[in-house]
Amino acid sequence: MKLCRLIILSVMLFLFGLTAPAYAKITVTVAHTHVETHPQHKAFLVFKNYIENELGERYEIQIYPNGLAGSNEQVFSLVKMNSIQFMAISASLLENSSKQYAIFSVPYLFRSEEVYENFIRDPEVIAELQAQEKRKFFRPLSAFTAGTRNFYASFPIRTVDDLKDRNFRVQIGRNTGLMMEAFGANDYVMSFRDVYTALKRGVVEGAENNELALVDQKHGEFCKYYSYDGHQMIPDMLIGSEEFLSSLPTEDYEVFRAAAMEAQRVEIREWKSRVKKAIKQAEDMGVSFIKVDSQSFRNKVLPLHDSLLTDNPAIRKLYVMTLKYQ
Ligand code: GCU
Repeated sequence: MKLCRLIILSVMLFLFGLTAPAYAKITVTVAHTHVETHPQHKAFLVFKNYIENELGERYEIQIYPNGLAGSNEQVFSLVKMNSIQFMAISASLLENSSKQYAIFSVPYLFRSEEVYENFIRDPEVIAELQAQEKRKFFRPLSAFTAGTRNFYASFPIRTVDDLKDRNFRVQIGRNTGLMMEAFGANDYVMSFRDVYTALKRGVVEGAENNELALVDQKHGEFCKYYSYDGHQMIPDMLIGSEEFLSSLPTEDYEVFRAAAMEAQRVEIREWKSRVKKAIKQAEDMGVSFIKVDSQSFRNKVLPLHDSLLTDNPAIRKLYVMTLKYQ
């Protein structure tokens, strides 16, 4: 009798084994705020394909672009709770919880975009950002370029004095606040997705960002002047939920990490051609691009460097690391 039961059980297990998948697939959610022509979206498609090619029987990557999953601030909370596993988030938004990210909002930190790109590509830089992470709710895997940040407004900015007493939307962060004060301008901190409405209603007269914001976010509908002062280069970090990443077997983690590096490579490669197209599109919207004497803008804020380094020791090592690229 016992033998009979054993045989039936073995047959059932065998049949179950034929029909049931070896593993249930894990759905991995990725969210970002950009439109689908943005280099970051292309990079996340590469991230998805890389992982699914290597580990497709175990993971399915779902991407929510365009702020569909919420604002950057909301998605960041969800990543920390592992409800969303990956996102691209401006280093500025990480400054409050992790002071080392404030390195990127130090104005005029990099001599050129090339220097900046080499810096964010350096695995030692990512390792240093990771190493200083104390509370471990998220982990940076790589960094995307977001180009150079410049001022744009409904009025032309030709000299640094044109910023005086004007209202600009800026990203959150102490360095950025001090920079705006040094420029003599008023800073309005708000979420990226609220900038369009704030410009439309006249709450702010301008903002500062890369050229893509003019067309992708339609800021060029209200801001017809874009001035190349080049005050900051702040990357969007590709971060993952710490809970998710630390639950992965080592071999799988290595695939996610390699996918993040590949995504970065593609994003940086795509950036310049997308900016060129955006400039054309913005010109068609009636936006003028203005070359300014960026040295006079730089001179206003360079004296800040010493105090920013004294007040925030968490950025000192990274500051020294930038010097090897200059
Ligand atoms: C850039 C960046 C975004 C960021 C935005 C902002 O466009 O790519 O991630 O949110 O600036 O100014 O908030």
